[in-house]
Amino acid sequence: MNSTTPNPIVRRSGSHLISADDVCLTFPDSTEALRGITLQIAAHEFVALVGPSGCGKSTLLRVLSGLQQPTSGVLSSSTSDIGFVFQDPTLLPWRSTLKNIETLLELRGVNATERQAKAQIALESVGLHDSGHKYPRQLSGGMKMRASLARTLVTDPSLLLLDEPFAAVDEFTRESLNDDLLSMFAMAKFSAVFVTHSITEAVYLSQRVIIMSPRPGTIAHEIQIPFEYPRTPALRYSAEFAHSCGQIAALMREMHSV
Ligand SMILES: Nc1ncnc2c1ncn2[C@@H]1O[C@H](COP(=O)(O)OP(=O)(O)OP(=O)(O)O)[C@@H](O)[C@H]1O
Ligand SMILES: [Mg+2]
Repeated sequence: MNSTTPNPIVRRSGSHLISADDVCLTFPDSTEALRGITLQIAAHEFVALVGPSGCGKSTLLRVLSGLQQPTSGVLSSSTSDIGFVFQDPTLLPWRSTLKNIETLLELRGVNATERQAKAQIALESVGLHDSGHKYPRQLSGGMKMRASLARTLVTDPSLLLLDEPFAAVDEFTRESLNDDLLSMFAMAKFSAVFVTHSITEAVYLSQRVIIMSPRPGTIAHEIQIPFEYPRTPALRYSAEFAHSCGQIAALMREMHSV
């Protein structure tokens, strides 16, 4: 994104990378999507966002990215380096994987030598060493998602917004993508807001899980996840992990039954 256009409701923020203060959004057709959202994302923090379908998670990501203006409230941001990863990998079918990863750098005017070098590093960091020359149709769903992740990470964003990026891949691929994402998080020092319907994925990845209420989306609960990084796959089978997942599931179930 890296927009240079000043956004009237975006202020420079101090200690947080990005914060929303009493953000509300009602669409022109009167659908009230977000109500009174107040949240802060710190530098190098990993936050997961969960909530029932239609509660406004994607809308909130779009607001945080600046793609969508809130109706009221204030968004404060100390960065414009924002990367967005969507559920659909949206690779350009006529470009090789490596060329796809170069796309955003090309749009920013980075010279060919530098962008090829950066794209190659990004390609390797997502485990696609041997697939740079392949076209999207030659990649599996998981590989496409890796390429999509690399395409965003190559721009070195300060804030990475991910909207159910691994929802369409099998469980084992998803777990492996989760580990890749955490390795990148350890190395690249970005902050992440990760939307998912999987409680396990939310707990495994994040330091904090934000639970949204059904529409209009409000922040219903925030749960701190106590596990240190680096996290290893064995964590998923521990009693403490099950406890955190159970706590979140109970809060979500309670919300549904009101
Ligand atoms: N452009 C729009 N105009 C009107 N209503 C919209 C628009 N975009 C989204 N909505 C509505 O706003 C609400 C929130 O949508 P959003 O896509 O943010 O939900 P979500 O939490 O991401 O859902 P899901 O988990 O299914 O992806 C929904 O009721 C949706 O129908
Ligand atoms: Mg959504």
